[in-house]
Amino acid sequence: MKKKIISVVFALFVMASTYSFTENDAIPIYKSFGCGIFNMVGHPVIQYLDNNSAIITWFTSSMGSGYIEYGETQQLGKVARHEIDGLYSSGSAMHRAFLKDLTPGTKYFYKATTLRTTTDYLFTGKKIETQTYSFTTPDADEHSFRFAIVSDTHDQPAIVSRLAAIAKQNSAQMFIFNGDSLNFTTSHKQIVRNIFTPLGELSAEIPVFFMRGNHETRGKSAGELRNFIYTPENGFYFMFRRAGSSLLILDGGEDKPDDHKEYRGLVNYENYRKRQTAWLEKTLATDSWKNSNFKIAINHIPIWQKDSDVIYIKSKEWQHTWLEMLENGKTDILFSAHTHRYEKRLPGAESGHNFYQLIGGARPNKNTLTLVEVTQTQIKIKVFTDDDVLIDEFEIRK
Ligand SMILES: [Fe+2]
Repeated sequence: MKKKIISVVFALFVMASTYSFTENDAIPIYKSFGCGIFNMVGHPVIQYLDNNSAIITWFTSSMGSGYIEYGETQQLGKVARHEIDGLYSSGSAMHRAFLKDLTPGTKYFYKATTLRTTTDYLFTGKKIETQTYSFTTPDADEHSFRFAIVSDTHDQPAIVSRLAAIAKQNSAQMFIFNGDSLNFTTSHKQIVRNIFTPLGELSAEIPVFFMRGNHETRGKSAGELRNFIYTPENGFYFMFRRAGSSLLILDGGEDKPDDHKEYRGLVNYENYRKRQTAWLEKTLATDSWKNSNFKIAINHIPIWQKDSDVIYIKSKEWQHTWLEMLENGKTDILFSAHTHRYEKRLPGAESGHNFYQLIGGARPNKNTLTLVEVTQTQIKIKVFTDDDVLIDEFEIRK
């Protein structure tokens, strides 16, 4: 009986993190993600997955009208197609489908089909189909969850591909970019080719969460990034639960003051972070967060204050505030990046905080992939370089 009560409570927590679709939003219009003959650009990208829904986005070289066929066998049988006011989406090379009423803990097969459309009267022409992929919805009472975090790949698709291969061979169930995937966000093609395409088939099999670093806040296409993500709270900061633990995703914005010449008077991150601070206060007070087995935070810029720290990450008011809030919220570990130097800071006076903080590495050293397995009683962490060398391994136990 006790077990049944526990599982009902757990199911409520899972539901609390379920995303409410905004499927009535128009798909952004992009005329092209490639060149030459009409074809797929990369593989589909699972942008969100919970125990009963999935959001899949894919890209073609020119505009078309697409749909996902899916089902519990390779025969598929169901169709998800984006429609607004009776019209199927047909004027963009970006395609998105919302799969609903999925069964928890179930393997689904799917493929994406796209009909080429021409501009004047939206005539359909050539039809292209992907191979058949599969993904598995989380169990409502899953007991463990394994995810991979990378960062600071800075427009290097070859490194992303190497990191994706490591995630795949270690059976990661989610892939998280923790910022600075780009140097400057200058075009929609760059976003797709340097972030999603290099993931290969991995992006079609497990959800990919893209978090913003300070570098993606710069460049003429920085405002377009929102078109390429789907998150549980429809923005760059949000919280979700897996396997009884919570993951808190934060967006520290840029690493310089708003009035720095780098931004030419075009940013207002100070107010953005204040709104986020208010959201953080509410989120850390929820039962969902407070009753988590483990409390995991992720933010691109490290959050600490030390006299020896370099100026561009040093002691800012928002860092003091968030540090205190995360400590009061009993955070177990914070994953950050930005310095390009792999570092493990242990809880205590030396680090300046009472939780673990793991900072991902990048050039001129090796990029790192951190593999995190969360169970009911421990967090197991392995850190690999992009040439697949294990450089650190440790556990956090309750
Ligand atoms: Fe950075």
